[in-house]
Amino acid sequence: MTAEELRENFLDFFKAKGHTIIPSASLVPREIDPSVLFTTAGMHPFKQYYLNPDETSDARIATSQKCVRTIDIDEVGDDTHLTFFEMLGNFSFGYPKKENSYFKEETIKFAWEFLTEILGIEKSRIYATYFHGEKEIPEDKESLEILKSISDLKEIKPQGTEDNFWSLGVENSPGGPTVEFYVDGIEVWNCVFNEYTFKKGQYELSENKGVDTGMGLERLLAVVDKKKTVFETDLFVSIISKIEEISGKKYEDNQKSFRIISDHIKAATFIIADGIIPSNVKQGYVLRRLIRRAIRHGKILGIENNFTKDIAEIVISTYSNMYLELKENGNKIFEELEKEENKFRKTLAGGLKEFEKLTAITGKDAFNLYQTYGFPLEMTEELAVEKNIKIDKDEFETEFKKHQELSRTASAGQFKGGLADTSEQTKKLHTAAHLMLAAIRKILSGDIIQKGSNITEERLRFDFNYPEKLTKEQIAEIENIVNQKIVENIPVEMTEMPKDEALKLAKVSFDPAKYGDIVKVYKIGDFSIELCGGPHVENTGQLGKFMIKKEESSSAGVRRIKAVLE
Ligand code: SER
Repeated sequence: MTAEELRENFLDFFKAKGHTIIPSASLVPREIDPSVLFTTAGMHPFKQYYLNPDETSDARIATSQKCVRTIDIDEVGDDTHLTFFEMLGNFSFGYPKKENSYFKEETIKFAWEFLTEILGIEKSRIYATYFHGEKEIPEDKESLEILKSISDLKEIKPQGTEDNFWSLGVENSPGGPTVEFYVDGIEVWNCVFNEYTFKKGQYELSENKGVDTGMGLERLLAVVDKKKTVFETDLFVSIISKIEEISGKKYEDNQKSFRIISDHIKAATFIIADGIIPSNVKQGYVLRRLIRRAIRHGKILGIENNFTKDIAEIVISTYSNMYLELKENGNKIFEELEKEENKFRKTLAGGLKEFEKLTAITGKDAFNLYQTYGFPLEMTEELAVEKNIKIDKDEFETEFKKHQELSRTASAGQFKGGLADTSEQTKKLHTAAHLMLAAIRKILSGDIIQKGSNITEERLRFDFNYPEKLTKEQIAEIENIVNQKIVENIPVEMTEMPKDEALKLAKVSFDPAKYGDIVKVYKIGDFSIELCGGPHVENTGQLGKFMIKKEESSSAGVRRIKAVLE
């Protein structure tokens, strides 16, 4: 099956079930939302309809939505991660009052019918999961009963909030239990039943319930066609063969660079078509970073001449029937890619030469590479890892902030934790880091300060000053304290206050002169108080189970902890 057929099958199926088919919204959200730069899910453009269903005349909608998620950008290159993907989704609003709205029964049955009858996936390959109830939110018995009524469904697995509860986690937003369908053990369809509203750290039952389902098109296509990875589907093969043609190299021998180039230039093509151009702020910076990383991986493949435009041409022809904006903006896409590539190539060689001279990278070096040679920090970091060179990221951020205050170009928040795509999981890990630091101070020493921190959706990494390896007992005690504070369900409060006042309350690791006059202070009960830009969850009860996965030396006198929430 081709991607086009799959998309059409999905939209036709839901049209026949009374849904209005709406074209994909722009990748750049209409309203200004400081926490997201791009549309990251199919439900994004309809968020407000869950709480205010009267704002739409359609109770049933289905879409194939363009999405960009930059949170996993460093993982692109493996079998599954992409920054650009399409999400197929069906939605229902205003249940039960709104005419034609539907809820769990229809959603689950539609999903089963589509997977088994329209796509013809063998029933023996499918199982489903549902929410077993956790932390004051009851088990989703209704979904369980509906799943049980499907006689050929192989297995129903109960799971907790971490896997089967979806929420935007911001005040006054919808959330609820999910049913997820798996094929060959791979999650393909997330069906969210928005029956709660998140208010003041609690989930309250909503008067208007709604459905939000999401299914990644690329992943589904790979599963339907029994392909090992998304890169073997028709959404990638022509792009990959073009890279083979340009570089003279084989995909099999250079998978990582091929995957990065094809994903990043695809994302860049769509982002430019939606009106963004490369720059040093917000979406423009993400775009710049995608293009430059692709060029550098082109260099790894030995491509010395401009090539991104040629890849974009294939992206446009692959998607032109579905996304008309690509062809319409073709010239602009080529122009912007060409301009950015010329700009970057001019300084790339010089920057790499400069880089080769370094044996360790201070924040100043990284900043210099950014400012003089246009090396995105993450690229310097990637190069440093390849060459096994340490880099001081905190110092870079300090330098960056200093520079920024002068030029007032960008907001430093965009550099934190992988560029401002604040997913719920990273927010939780930010809050967990505060709890952990407070616990470390309790167990090890009150003098401990943060020496570095890096948070991805999967884990937190935290460096702090301490002279020796932690014992197993100390690690267990830190874990226990953090988990205890999670169970205590403590609200996380943010106050903005003058810096001088804040410095009396909390220890800081940067030079205080580097902060602005008014700072944000995050307080977790009487347990933790920190100067921090955020973002954080509203209540520790949302965090799940905290576990330290690794404790090691980071540099002399500095320990590094990696921890997760499960
Ligand atoms: N919002 C859910 C997700 O992103 C389902 O669409 O997975």
